[in-house]
Amino acid sequence: MKIVLGIESTAHTFGIGITRGNKVLANVKKNYTTEKGGIIPVEAARHHEKHYKEIIEQALLEAKLKIENINLIAFSQGPGLSPCLRVGLQAVKELHQKYKIPFIGVNHCVAHLEVGKAVTKAKDPVLLYVSGANTQVIAFEGGKYRIFGETLDQGTGNFLDSFARYIGLGFPGGPKIAELAEKSNNYIELPYSVKGMDISFTGMLTKLKQMYDSKKYKTEDLAYSLQETAFAMLLEVAERAMAHCNKNELLLGGGVACNKRLKEMANIMCKERNAKCFIPENSLLVDNGAMIAITGAKFYNPKKKYILDIKPYERTDDV
Ligand code: ATP
Ligand code: FE2
Repeated sequence: MKIVLGIESTAHTFGIGITRGNKVLANVKKNYTTEKGGIIPVEAARHHEKHYKEIIEQALLEAKLKIENINLIAFSQGPGLSPCLRVGLQAVKELHQKYKIPFIGVNHCVAHLEVGKAVTKAKDPVLLYVSGANTQVIAFEGGKYRIFGETLDQGTGNFLDSFARYIGLGFPGGPKIAELAEKSNNYIELPYSVKGMDISFTGMLTKLKQMYDSKKYKTEDLAYSLQETAFAMLLEVAERAMAHCNKNELLLGGGVACNKRLKEMANIMCKERNAKCFIPENSLLVDNGAMIAITGAKFYNPKKKYILDIKPYERTDDV
């Protein structure tokens, strides 16, 4: 069985995972964070550049391995921020040149799906992938990965983070909104926006900001209603994709899937339609190197020639 080192560097996380088969031997990461405002790509890249060597060393230490034991390097090729992706690429280049280790580039969104399949018992699931920048419902159909629904404007995490920042909760906002929401069960109606199989959050965000500014509502009620509405939208689309593809497994992926209420609602939806709900542990839901390693191992073909490049705009359905 191959020992694979996976490199994740699409956005604010630089992660190194080491796997053998579906076993995760190490999964180390460091996040670029900001006090205010969103991610500045060049600064995130600078952060990754500063730390990548020590993260590789730490992962090897944790796995009790030496770099000479690594049989394959997998790296996230896209979609993501070019400056960040380039740091990952640089690391692959160095390791490949110095130690002659073969490499493969993988799609980040597909990796969220593949790691879930590898560590749970899901066989052919519909993936609800909800992170900061991405929100997609993905399934493998007709020989390729297809997107059945997605956000038309912003990712769920960015939406949560924007509102959290607006009300002074800081970044990342998802967990802070979740904490607030737990203090309420008073539902206030918010714009519910599902268009066909796609969703949008901008209307809800504008409304929430207005409601907050009016000072007529408790912030915990807003946080609670936001979660109930946004997660219902996500699960409506996921459920329709399951019905459409005739699949009876749902898999969650992405940082927002760490949310307890989303997990609970996903479990309820699956129970109601006699389907199974699979949720990997939180460290594999967020961006991480192990998911890249596991995906690389699955697709690597020694007869194929791989190119060292990045694909910042690669879509799931181009894979
Ligand atoms: P991608 O590059 O795939 O878009 P990402 O860079 O956004 O990923 P992730 O770690 O997948 O990184 O997700 C981060 C997002 O998850 C943030 O927006 C954060 O607010 C959100 N998040 C984390 N924990 C929770 C939680 N418990 N509830 C809701 N949202 C959460
Ligand atoms: Fe991600």
